[in-house]
Amino acid sequence: RQGTVVAVDGTSGSGKSSTCRAVAARLGLAYLDTGAMFRAMTWWMLEQGVDVHDAAAVAERCEEPRIVSGTDPEAPTIHVDGTDVAAAIRTDAVTGSVSPVSTVPAVRARLLTMQREVIAEAVRGTGIVVEGRDIGSVVAPDAPVKLYLTADPAARAARRAAEEGGSDLAATQAVLLDRDRIDSSRATAPLTMAEGAVHIDTTPFTLDEVVAQVVGLVRAVG
Ligand code: C5P
Repeated sequence: RQGTVVAVDGTSGSGKSSTCRAVAARLGLAYLDTGAMFRAMTWWMLEQGVDVHDAAAVAERCEEPRIVSGTDPEAPTIHVDGTDVAAAIRTDAVTGSVSPVSTVPAVRARLLTMQREVIAEAVRGTGIVVEGRDIGSVVAPDAPVKLYLTADPAARAARRAAEEGGSDLAATQAVLLDRDRIDSSRATAPLTMAEGAVHIDTTPFTLDEVVAQVVGLVRAVG
């Protein structure tokens, strides 16, 4: 019997990461944060001095970094060439550059291969919760459970600003909306609600309430 795949997509700051980690922990599943992989790629490009707005330059270098994701939902990890970049990938510099890097088809192709390898290994065990922007549509279109999480922009900005320790609300909201715009309008694997996905607007719910809904959905599928 194969482990399950829970594919979770949605806008930036919709509560995907917290929800996915808690659901995976509750159900004994692995967890893959594909956004962290795009961030790790972006961090490496910035380190190397590659112009992140030069798609050809990004494409030419994107096979070089070795990116390794640890899939324990209680303690997910991300390494680039052996360096722990968990904190480094959350800086404003990376957040501000990740969407342009993610539009480059060669970047997406490379990370897609890596994502499919992680998923294939996890389904030999109990299964995995995978979060991103194109999981239900491209990475794991056959996933038995697909979710699409969104929230009001103001609520998302408030959560993100709280996480970041009191950063400016309006600026945080502007950055989130700008990422959504680029992520939704790119040609390759744009953010979209996948065929068969369940849409949850998390705005009125607490994290625990969303987790309970998702756990219920996964259990219902078996
Ligand atoms: O999920 P997170 O906000 O960390 O993702 C960072 C960025 O990575 C997104 O804004 C998007 O540009 C990119 N991304 C993507 N496809 C995914 C996951 C993330 O393009 N599956």
